[in-house]
Amino acid sequence: PDLAAFESLVRGHAPKFFYGIPNSQNPSGRTYSEGKRRAVAEILEGTDTVFYEDDAFGELFFDGKPRPPVKRHLPKQTVISGSFSKIVAPGMRIGWIYAPAPVLRQFNVAKQAADLHSNFLCQVILHRYLATHDLDAHVARVSAVYGRHCRLMCDLLDDLMPPGTTHTNPEGGMFMTAALPDGVSSMEVFREGVHEGVAVLPGVPFYVDGGGEDTIRLNFSAAGEEEIAEGMHRLARVVRKLA
Ligand SMILES: Cc1ncc(COP(=O)(O)O)c(C=O)c1O
Repeated sequence: PDLAAFESLVRGHAPKFFYGIPNSQNPSGRTYSEGKRRAVAEILEGTDTVFYEDDAFGELFFDGKPRPPVKRHLPKQTVISGSFSKIVAPGMRIGWIYAPAPVLRQFNVAKQAADLHSNFLCQVILHRYLATHDLDAHVARVSAVYGRHCRLMCDLLDDLMPPGTTHTNPEGGMFMTAALPDGVSSMEVFREGVHEGVAVLPGVPFYVDGGGEDTIRLNFSAAGEEEIAEGMHRLARVVRKLA
């Protein structure tokens, strides 16, 4: 986050909680530096604001090295969660949460009201998977593949897209954001892209109060290298037509 804006929001509004994704954020793929982690913790320390640290992508760093969580700098005020959807199977929708006991009790009440309980069948499948497979080896394998896909996508963006296109450079995760040349609308790229058989997510739904009109989210985990190359050529054609 922009630390000055963040500090002024925390001081001015005393929010109940701040939700952040320090590792390979969705949609940008950005990761907080160690300095930012400390600064966020220092700004929140001693306030009534809880930091909700969504760590869905923390295990998917391409270099295989986990980054220390913000929770380490702010242990009493941080709730941290992760998801097996990103490291075992996307439809699983089973995750974990680590929080002080009184906060967990509140989560239980809210979750019961929302879905009664997590799907039993998926929990049994996940339990069996974890008991019979080496999850760390699997995560290391897929992270390395995602790293190759990400580099390929970055290189193709640099080579094929018209001038004015920029993109983030993720260190992990599944997504990156590309900013389009001036005047090219992300919604139009989305619509035209579908006709060309290439799907991107416009940036608009990722903002609560306007923004994202000129950004698109790209996924590099689902497709193989040939499909990525074909998809980037198609996307570049669409953006060039609209630029
Ligand atoms: C940052 C982030 N957190 C959490 C989730 C949700 O994961 P789950 O599949 O466990 O609901 C997602 C999934 O899309 C995500 O991108």
